Parts: sequence; C-alpha cells; structure tokens
Amino acid sequence: MSEKHFQRTLVTAALPYANGGVHIGHLAGVYVPADIYVRYLRLKKREVLFICGSDEHGVPVTIRARKEGCTPQQVVDRYNAVISKSFADFGITFDNYGRTTSPIHRETASQFFRTLYDKGEFVEKESEQYYDEEAHTFLADRYITGECPHCHAEGAYGDQCEKCGTALAPTELINPKSTISGAKPVLRKTKHWYLPLDRHQEWLEKWIVSDHPEWRSNVMGQCKSWFDMGLQPRAVSRDLEWGIPVPVDGAEGKVLYVWFDAPIGYISNTKEILPNDWEKWWKSDDTRLIHFIGKDNIVFHCIVFPAMLKAEGSYILPDNVPANEFLNLEDDKISTSRDWAVWLDEYLRDFPGKQDVLRYVLTANAPETKDNNFTWRDFQARNNNELVAVYGNFVNRALQLTQKYYDGEVPASGPLTDYDRDTIAEFTGVKAEVERLLEAFRFRDAQKEAMALARIGNKYLADSEPWKVIKTDPERVKTILYLSLQLVANLAIAFEPFLPFSSKRLREMLHLGEADWDRLGATDLLPAGHRLAQPELLFAKIEDDVVEAQVQKLLDKKKALEAATHKADPIAQTVSFDDFEKLDIRVGTVLACEKVKKSKKLLKFEIADGLENRTIVSGIALHYDPATLVGKQVCFIANLAPRTVCGVESQGMILSALNYDESLSLLTLDRPVAPGSHVG
Ligand code: 2FM
Ligand code: ZN
Repeated sequence: MSEKHFQRTLVTAALPYANGGVHIGHLAGVYVPADIYVRYLRLKKREVLFICGSDEHGVPVTIRARKEGCTPQQVVDRYNAVISKSFADFGITFDNYGRTTSPIHRETASQFFRTLYDKGEFVEKESEQYYDEEAHTFLADRYITGECPHCHAEGAYGDQCEKCGTALAPTELINPKSTISGAKPVLRKTKHWYLPLDRHQEWLEKWIVSDHPEWRSNVMGQCKSWFDMGLQPRAVSRDLEWGIPVPVDGAEGKVLYVWFDAPIGYISNTKEILPNDWEKWWKSDDTRLIHFIGKDNIVFHCIVFPAMLKAEGSYILPDNVPANEFLNLEDDKISTSRDWAVWLDEYLRDFPGKQDVLRYVLTANAPETKDNNFTWRDFQARNNNELVAVYGNFVNRALQLTQKYYDGEVPASGPLTDYDRDTIAEFTGVKAEVERLLEAFRFRDAQKEAMALARIGNKYLADSEPWKVIKTDPERVKTILYLSLQLVANLAIAFEPFLPFSSKRLREMLHLGEADWDRLGATDLLPAGHRLAQPELLFAKIEDDVVEAQVQKLLDKKKALEAATHKADPIAQTVSFDDFEKLDIRVGTVLACEKVKKSKKLLKFEIADGLENRTIVSGIALHYDPATLVGKQVCFIANLAPRTVCGVESQGMILSALNYDESLSLLTLDRPVAPGSHVG
C-alpha cells in the first residue's frame, strides 16, 4: 500500500512478561528498533503512537509466585516496576506503558471475548486434562513433571523436556507428577473455547502471502509453514485461577488464555491514554499498525491476533510485523532460568551513563535476518573503534580546533574547492538513504549510514589538514572548519533516533536547540559567528579488564547456578560412630609445597602437624599452583597407613571437595588454629 494512504502510525512493541527483568536480547529484538522507528517518525512530524506494557498473566507468573511464597500480583507489581524503569533508563519512549492487570484491560479483553462468543466465533470442545485431586485443580502443562519419553531424563515438563529439547504433551510423560502437591494427576474432562483458525486460513493466507510480499522473509517463512501444516483450532481459555475470568455462564474457574488477552493489551493501553480518541488508532483505515516483536511471537501476531481482530469485525489489521531473530550471548542462547543474560539494570550499574553504547552495539549487531551473537569483545571493539575512534574523534577534533583557532565561534566559510563540493555531495545524500532504510525496517544499515557522516568528516579533516594549513593559508582553514562543524551538526541530527542521549549532549555542545530532521544534509545548520559551548568527550574508551570482568561475571553466575541445581550423588552405606572415630583428622599448616618430579598430577606437601611435621602427597596439581598454598591451613587424615607414591612416602591424606564438574577445592579453615588440632 502506498505511504500516502496512511495518516498515522500505531507502533506496538511486544508486551514483556512481568516475571523477570529485561535483558539485551529483548532490547535488541524489539524495543530498540521500535524506539528508533518511532523517534524517526516523530522527527518526520508524522502522527504516531507508541504502545507497550507488561504482560502480567500466564502460568510462569504463578510458578514464580509459588516458588517465592508470594501472590502473583506481588510478582507482577515488582517486575512491572523493574521493567518500566529499565525502559525509561534506556530512553525507550512509549506513549503508554500499561499493564494487563489494569481494570481497563480486564474490561476490554473480557468484552472482546464476549463479542466473539456472541457472534459464534468460537467452538466449544471438551477434552481430557490432568487434574490434581489433592490440590483440587487442573494442572497447566508446566505444573506437571515426569520422565521424558524420548531421552528418559527425570523432571521433564508437561510441555517440553529441557534436557533433550523435545516438545511434549503432558500425557506423554512417564510417571507424571503434580509439582503442586506431588500427587499423581488423573485425567478429567474439561470444557474450553477454541478459536477455529482453520476457518480463517483462506483469507489469512491471501492477506499475508499475496497482499504483503514485502514482509520480512523470516516472518513470511514462518507464516507459510503454518499454512502448509494447516491451521488448527486453538484453545483461548484455561483452567487456572490467575487471569481474566471467562465472561460466560458455566465458566467458573476458567480464565482467558494469556495469549488471548495479551495482544488485546495493545488496545487497552491505547484506550487508557486516549479514552475518547482511541478508535481512530484501531478502527480507521488510514491508520498504519506495526507490531515489533521477536520471532517466537510471529504466529500470535501474524495469525492468531489478526484472526481475532477480523472475527471481531471492526478493527484494522497490521500493515507490517518486522520480527527479529534471536540474539545469543557469548555463543550461547540467552536464558532467564540459567541466568545467561545481560540484564539492563545490571548493565547500567556497571556502565553508568552508557545507554547509547549498548543501543549502538545492539543495533549494529541486530538479529534482523538471522540469529546474531553479542560478545563483550565485540561490544568493546564497536565502542572503541567506531564510537570513540570515528564519531567521537571527529566531533572532538572539529570542536577543539574551533576552540583553538576561533575561540569557539563558527568561522565564516570562504570559497569552496572541488574537494569541499564533493564532500558536501557525499553527505547531503545520507538523509534520503537513512530514511529509505528506516522505512524498510533495516535499522542496522540505517545506523551504518548515519555513521558514514562521521567517516566522511574524519576523512575530510585528515585530507584537509587544517592544523598544517593554518600556518600557510589561515583563510582556507575557516572554510574547512565551517564545513566540518556543519557535518558535526548533521551527525547530531542523524543519530537522534539511534543514540538520543549522545545527540542531546552534542546539540548542547553546539547550542543547536531541537533537532530538525528536515534540515539533515544542510550546510548552514550553524551560521558563522554562532558560539559553541566548551566541548566534552562524547564517548570514552572501554579497557580490556572491564570486558574481561563482564565475561567472568557471566561464567561465575552460570557456575554458581549449575552447582546450586546439581543433584548430588547418593549417600554411601552407613558407618558406626565407632568406625568414624577411628579416623584421626587434623589441621596442618602448609610449610612447603612443590610438584612431584615426572608427575603431572601430584603435589608434595610439607605439613606442620604440631608434632614432628610430615610429608603428604596429594593428586591436586592440576587445580592449584603450589606456591599459592604455602601458609594455608588444611585438613588431613593423620592415621592413614603410609603409602609410597612416585617414590615419595605419603603420610596421610589432605581433604578436598570434588565438584561435579571435576573442579576441586581444598578444605581450608576460616580462622587460624594450632597445627595438629582435631577435626570432627
Ligand atoms: O513473548 C513474550 O514475552 C510475550 N509476553 C509477548 C506478548 S506480546 C503481545 F501480544 F502482548
Ligand atoms: Zn528428553
């Protein structure tokens, strides 16, 4: 459809689940691109509304509440606050960030269901589902665990085995168990309402495949594969307590399925801020609706929600759904449960004021066409080699030279050379190109194009060498710096959608006022005689040790979590107290420690034992550098019969803990005691 047809654009960003924080994967996949797009439209003075909010229903919230011993409402209250703060901190400029537990949403979602129900748009079906007779409740798939029928791992969930990754139905589990009471669940009949997607397949297929060939290929590919499999009816209700009650007689104990109510949240959150004007955003053909989402949400936004909207009858459908693929972290899938993530609040604690660096890196590396990888090394390299060395360096050189030669005042340009004209021609074209790319949702290329301005500027300064020319032709330097400063001002405008914090700082340094996008590409943004503020550095270098610490932090968290959830070996056969007392365990101080010659694994210890001292050989050379052990107090079995190992007589055994991953930790003491003290 042509651009002109639309009067306004409604942009939505997926409602994040309020059962955890926001991490870089969320930001890269959905919120930064959506924010860039909206900021751009606002700069173009188009009528735009940006809607998001917390998705507060669903089983994961109830599981978290149960685990933490609080109510689901307390869980979502807490995370709604965390999430909305993170978004505000990163400059994501929603017009409204609502909640699906708000009264207006309950009312809107309930009404929506009722309309479809009254129109006969649902089918009612009975099915058998697991029921917990002790807890008197039906069990959501995630509340049932058992043995995986494929890999036979214990603890597989009713919807998926996390060990082998296979999707499961709860009835496939071997020896299913309710995680609420531990009881063996029984099958019981229950009634649900289904949205008969099969009835919608024909128009959906035409609407997407024929009418929207411009949709991203990853989105189109997923839709086509759903169509090829044939759409099936989907249940839109659940037997649960947490959620919006199904507004129909005889539906006690049933709530709307979270994926039915969540997308309606876009509508309620619009209503919330525009109670009298919301319909023009949702029901008018000249509104363009764009959903920003991650790839796991494609089916819901391209098939299920449009079918709901169409069935209701009075709503528009999305014009585009620019879904992103996933961002991995250090070559591993981002995972909330494994804590393999960079959380936004933690990032800001470690890198205060560096929101734009993350925005920049996530856009430069956006998973637009395929899954991408975030590494701390790449983060450092993009900061140091691009933001600092290209953008920051150019701005700083131009501003410093202006301070030095003209006391911070924009000089008047003299006659232009051919080289000046070529440079101008290069940068005036950037506006059209950035716009073309943004309109096509190609954010990484658009940002690259904005960065081209800084590259042009750096090259212009390097080629023109004002610091040399000042000695021979000072008049010429005025033109060089005049043009350079125009480029700097252009940079502030071009980066406004991408790096809003830095653009604002730069505009302040330039005394530029509000950014005027229409003037991007102009060569008279800063008139001769205009005074500039004292320049400051826009970006700072990030050192090796800082990124190394981040990688280490991730590895440590992963390790701690693995250790905490590791199942220990079964306990060995019982021994009598008398037998135990036969062991004489003592504390010794390490006097000397060295490798045993010709052995990779053995260390030879000289131990002060409060008597005559002794030698003990221990197989821990792969885990400790001997020099670091001297002076430590360790525990050892003192009455073990001596053994000769590699030609050295060992008089006892030093105690250590063997971790499940084969790493090892010596048993040391947390306060000093006399050598030879008893351990027991
Ligand atoms: O995947 C998710 O995080 C969902 N909470 C997204 C919901 S988007 C919309 F439909 F509300
Ligand atoms: Zn399995």
